[in-house]
Amino acid sequence: MQNLEIRENAVREKSYTRADWQGGYDSLTQEFDYQIDDVEGQIPTELQGTLFRNGPGLLDVNGQRIHHPFDGDGMISRITFVNGHAHFRNRFIHTEGYLAEQKAGKILYRGVFGTQKPGGWLANLFDFQIKNIANTNVIYWGNKLLALWEAAEPHRLDPYTLETLGREYFNGVLSTGEAFGAHPRLDPSCEQDGGAPCLVNFSIKPGLSTTITIFELNPAGEIIRKHAHSVPGFCFIHDFVVTPNYCILFQNPVSFNPIPFALGIRAAGECIKFQPNQPTRIIIIPRTPEKEQTGVRILETQSGFVFHHINAFEVKDEIFIDSICYESLPEVEPESDFRQVDFEALTPGQLWRFNLNLKDGIVKQELIEKRCCEFPTIHPANVGRPYRYSYIGAAHAETGNAPLQALLKMDLESGERQIWSAAPLGFMGEPVFVPRPGSQKEDDGWVLALVYDAAHHRSDVVILDASDFSKGAIARLHLKHHIPYGLHGSFTSKVFAAT
Ligand code: CO
Repeated sequence: MQNLEIRENAVREKSYTRADWQGGYDSLTQEFDYQIDDVEGQIPTELQGTLFRNGPGLLDVNGQRIHHPFDGDGMISRITFVNGHAHFRNRFIHTEGYLAEQKAGKILYRGVFGTQKPGGWLANLFDFQIKNIANTNVIYWGNKLLALWEAAEPHRLDPYTLETLGREYFNGVLSTGEAFGAHPRLDPSCEQDGGAPCLVNFSIKPGLSTTITIFELNPAGEIIRKHAHSVPGFCFIHDFVVTPNYCILFQNPVSFNPIPFALGIRAAGECIKFQPNQPTRIIIIPRTPEKEQTGVRILETQSGFVFHHINAFEVKDEIFIDSICYESLPEVEPESDFRQVDFEALTPGQLWRFNLNLKDGIVKQELIEKRCCEFPTIHPANVGRPYRYSYIGAAHAETGNAPLQALLKMDLESGERQIWSAAPLGFMGEPVFVPRPGSQKEDDGWVLALVYDAAHHRSDVVILDASDFSKGAIARLHLKHHIPYGLHGSFTSKVFAAT
C-alpha cells in the first residue's frame, strides 16, 4: 500500500505528460516565410547571423506513418537575427525520395530505422534501396549550405531561398552514394594548415570489417585530405571527436544480423543488437597518418553506447573525451510505436569523462553528470582544446530518464551547474552556443534552442544569456506553428535574408 502511494506521488510529480510530448512529433507539411513579431523579451542587437536547424519534418507520408523519426524527410528551418529582429523560413529538402513519395502519395522506400514499404515482407524482400533523407544536420561551410545524412552524400541548398540545388560531391572527391558523416567538427586552428580553420568529418562503410574514412575541408569548402582505414568488426558510429592530432571514434559493442534485413522482415536499424558483455573499442586515428609511426590504435573500455560526444582534448600523452553514454542501445522494435515510448523504462544518457593514456593504453572513465542529458554544445573556439563550459539538453528532474525539457550549463572546472527548465509544457531541442562578437570569456554569449510548447502546439526560439541562466530566457520568440523535434543544426554569423 505504501509502495503504491509512493508510486502515485512519483507519477503526479512527473514533469511532463506523454500526450504533451507527442504533439512535437506531428508532421509539419506547410512551408513558411515570415518576420517573427510575437517576441517576449529582447533579442540582443549584437546577435547577428543565422541559425539553421535540420530534422524530420514529416512523420508520415500522406497519412502512412513512418516507423521511426530518424526515417522522416529532412526539413530545414532558418532563423535569421538582424538588428534585434528575427525572421523565420522553412523548406523541405527535395531529395529524390521526398519528391517521388510526395508525387506517389505513399511510402516507396524502406527506412533504415524500420519504415517498411506497405505490402509486408514480400514488397521489401531484397530491397536495399535506401532513401537519402538528408535529415540529420545542416552546416554552412566554404560558401555552401549542406544538409547532411550519414549514410550518403550531402545535399546542397541555396542559403537565401533554401531551394535544393542537388547532391554535393566536392569536385568529384566524393563518389555517387558515398557516405559523408552528419557530425563534422570544426577545428578552429588547424596546425597542418598554418592555423587556418578546418572542417573535419568521417564516414563509415560497415561490413565484417569496417572502413572509416576521414575528410578534412579547407575554408573554401574543398576536401584537402582524405584517408581511409580498415578496422575489425561491424561499426555503428554516429559521431566522433577531433583534437589537433587525432580523430577518435567509439566503436559501440553491437552486432549486425543482415538476414532479416535482406529478407525484408526487418529494417537495417532493427538488425543491430547491443552486446552488453563486449567492450567499447576506442579507435584513435592520427590526422597525419604519414607522419605517425603507430598508425591506428584501438583501446578498450567497458560496455556502453554513445551517440554524441561533447569534446576532446590532449594533455601531453593523454586524451580526454567527454561523451553522453547509455548503459545499452534501446533496440528499435518492429511492432512498436515510438510515440508510445515508456521513458521511465529506459536508462538515461549521462555524461562521462574518458581518459586515454597513449603510453600504456589504459582507459579510465568517470561519471561527471548523472542527470539525463543529450545534445551538447560548446564554444566553437574550444573544439579539440581544453574547455570549461558545456550547454546541453537535459531532463527536468535530477534523476531517472525523461524527455529533454531543460537546458543545463555545466562548469567542468568548478563543478557548478545552472539549469533553465521549460517544464511542464516545454520540450527542449539541441542548443547552440553563439559567442558574443569580441568576447574574451568562454561563456560570454548566448545559447539558442528550439522549444516545443505543448500548451499552444507551437515552437519557440529561446535565447539564454550563457553567462547567467538565472536570468531566465532573455527572449522567447513564438513561431506561428510547431517544428517537429529536430536533430542537429548550426549557427553562422552570415545573414541570408533581409529582415
Ligand atoms: Co547526432
